[in-house]
Amino acid sequence: MRTQVGIIGAGPAGLLLSHLLHLRGISSVVLERRSREYVERRVRAGVLEQGTVDTLVAAGVGERLLREGLPHEGIELRYGGAAHRIPFEKLVPGRRITVYGQQEVVKDLIAARLEAGGDLRFEVDDVELHDLTGAPYVTFGGDRLDCEVIAGCDGFHGVSRPSIPEGVLTVFEREYPFAWLGVLARVRPSAEELIYARNERGFALHSMRSPEVSRFYLQVPPDADLADWPDERVWAELKARLETVPGFTLETGEIIEKGVTPMRGFVAEPMQYGRLYLAGDSAHIVPPTGAKGLNLAVADVNALTEALAAYFATGSAGLLDGYSAACLRRVWRAQHFSWWMTTLLHTFDDEDAYARRLQLSYLDYVTSSMAAATTLAENYVGLS
Ligand code: FAD
Ligand code: PHB
Repeated sequence: MRTQVGIIGAGPAGLLLSHLLHLRGISSVVLERRSREYVERRVRAGVLEQGTVDTLVAAGVGERLLREGLPHEGIELRYGGAAHRIPFEKLVPGRRITVYGQQEVVKDLIAARLEAGGDLRFEVDDVELHDLTGAPYVTFGGDRLDCEVIAGCDGFHGVSRPSIPEGVLTVFEREYPFAWLGVLARVRPSAEELIYARNERGFALHSMRSPEVSRFYLQVPPDADLADWPDERVWAELKARLETVPGFTLETGEIIEKGVTPMRGFVAEPMQYGRLYLAGDSAHIVPPTGAKGLNLAVADVNALTEALAAYFATGSAGLLDGYSAACLRRVWRAQHFSWWMTTLLHTFDDEDAYARRLQLSYLDYVTSSMAAATTLAENYVGLS
């Protein structure tokens, strides 16, 4: 079997790449370890930057997103017993985010690929990458796929990055001393906008998926066990961390999904080896406080599509050669923003009273200085 681009992984990066390449007349095969049901149900990101929405709409996969997505013109920072709104419409006019579940993006992309006759293979075992600096090919479940280029879109725990020989990549990593417990609940959102709450008990986030479904996150110890978090405890802790301003009551309901996510910053440089190009979480991850992971994956895929289109049209590898450097600029800006949001809003076991005062003072600065609030807003909605 032969294709132009062998794509490992059917997350948002792999699926969008396959779709955008198809629109440019470039063939691909997507190899995914999990089942279609599994990837369509995996609850993860929810915040789409304007650029991400524009990409999906321009690619013809934004119809449901425009209908069901929830546009937001601001977020709230909640701390010290008060609510502070960061108004995007005032600070970054014309730019906003849209709340739309990652698994909905994945469903829309899978539907579009299948409708166009795309070759998506689910539940594929034993994917291995070969001859990356020569004539690359992928073996899987007894089959072989010859490719001109391989795109490693298989996330942080995938096979692509580890296929690069030792010593080629430089890895930068930061582990945080806490995790996020994420919860999806069948209950209407208790507020119209996202609430990022800094609390002495730890960080909490109020987000949403639809007028009937809310999404929450709690800062928990890095080794937190779901067995220690029965629903009653989750609601009690969310209430303790979010019901801190007069007149705010958290609505509770049935919890339909629960998971623990470690918090980590990670970058592997360069995002290329021979004819293998890494995109999305396979090359870099950010702590989710800045809501950047999915958006970075989409930006990588846009850049890779342009580079591959130029390569297949003219044989010129100029854009492909510059792919990694072009992406890493944006990746590091997002690393910094995500680290900054994380340190601004979480509690750290080793911090003393002085450090806590500094954090609160910084929060006051961010919510009272136009310059500081604009920095937050323009990074949050996405730098173009
Ligand atoms: P993935 O989504 O990880 O997809 C990789 C795919 O490759 C998977 O389907 C996997 O099964 C497959 N795969 C893995 N190994 C193999 C193999 N050996 N062979 C074949 N296939 C394989 N980002 C935001 O922008 N905004 C947010 O609000 C946000 N919130 C988040 C909240 C949580 C709780 C988490 C966990 C993440 C969040 N993110 C957020 C990050 C975002 O979900 C990721 O950045 C995004 O999923 C990256 O997409 P991807 O396609 O690169 O990787
Ligand atoms: C989400 O809705 O899943 C979400 C929102 C904001 C974040 C992270 C996740 O920073």
